[in-house]
Amino acid sequence: MQVDATFVLSAASASDLPRDGLAEIALVGRSNVGKSSLINALTRQRVARTSAAPGKTRLANIYRVARGAAEPFHLVDLPGYGHARGDENELAAVARAYFGQVARGSALLLVDARHPGLQSDTEAWNWLRHRVERCAVAATKIDKLARGERIRATRELQSVFNDPVLPVSAVTGEGLDHLWTLIDHLLNNRLPRPRFHPPPKETARPPRRPLRKNSSSRR
Ligand code: GTP
Ligand code: MG
Repeated sequence: MQVDATFVLSAASASDLPRDGLAEIALVGRSNVGKSSLINALTRQRVARTSAAPGKTRLANIYRVARGAAEPFHLVDLPGYGHARGDENELAAVARAYFGQVARGSALLLVDARHPGLQSDTEAWNWLRHRVERCAVAATKIDKLARGERIRATRELQSVFNDPVLPVSAVTGEGLDHLWTLIDHLLNNRLPRPRFHPPPKETARPPRRPLRKNSSSRR
C-alpha cells in the first residue's frame, strides 16, 4: 500500500505542537532504541534522521503519514530518555510537556529486544499507562537476536510489561505489517487489538507422545 510521509515541524514546547486535529501516535523510548529508524522503515522513506550516537532527536519531530485511502495521522518522534546524565529514569522534559496536553493521542513505547526490563523503560510504561489513553509496546532490533532467543526475549518482555509486545526490525522489516495493524488500533480504538503473537509452530503442536515399545504394547 502507498505510504506518503512528510516532515511537518519540530516542536520545542507544547505551544509549538500542531492543532490541526489529526490523530497522533508518539514514539517513546530510550535514546538509540530505534524510534527514528522505525519511522523510516514504516513509511519506506528516509524522512527521520537517525544516528549511531544517542541523542540525535532533540525535539518532538512531527511527521504527517498518509497510508492508502486511510485518514492521515501524525507520527511523533520524541527525544529519547536515558541519554543525559541525571535523566536516566525520566522521560525527557519535552515528552512530559507533550503528554501533558489534554488527550494528546496514543503512544508506542519502543524497547530494545535485547534488554528486557530496564528500569527506565518500565517507569516510562507506568507513566504512559496512567496518562495516555491508548498505548502499546514494541521491541526493536529483533534482527539482532537469534531465532531461539527471540521467543524467549519476547516472552520475558511480555511478562515485564504485562502486555503483548510486538517484535520488530527496522533493518529486516520483520513485524512491520503487524505494526501497521497495531497503529490502526491505536488510531481507532473501535478496531479490536490485534493478536500478533501466534505461538511459533513448534510450540503450537501438541507435545509428541513418547514412542511405545512394540513388544510391550502389542498383545
Ligand atoms: P535518539 O534520536 O537518540 O533518541 O535515537 P533513536 O531512538 O531515534 O534511534 P535511531 O533510529 O537513530 O537508531 C539508533 C541506531 O540503531 C542506528 O545506528 C540505527 O541504524 C540502529 N537501528 C535502529 N533500528 C534498528 C533495527 O531494527 N535493527 C538494527 N540492527 N539496528 C537498528
Ligand atoms: Mg531519533
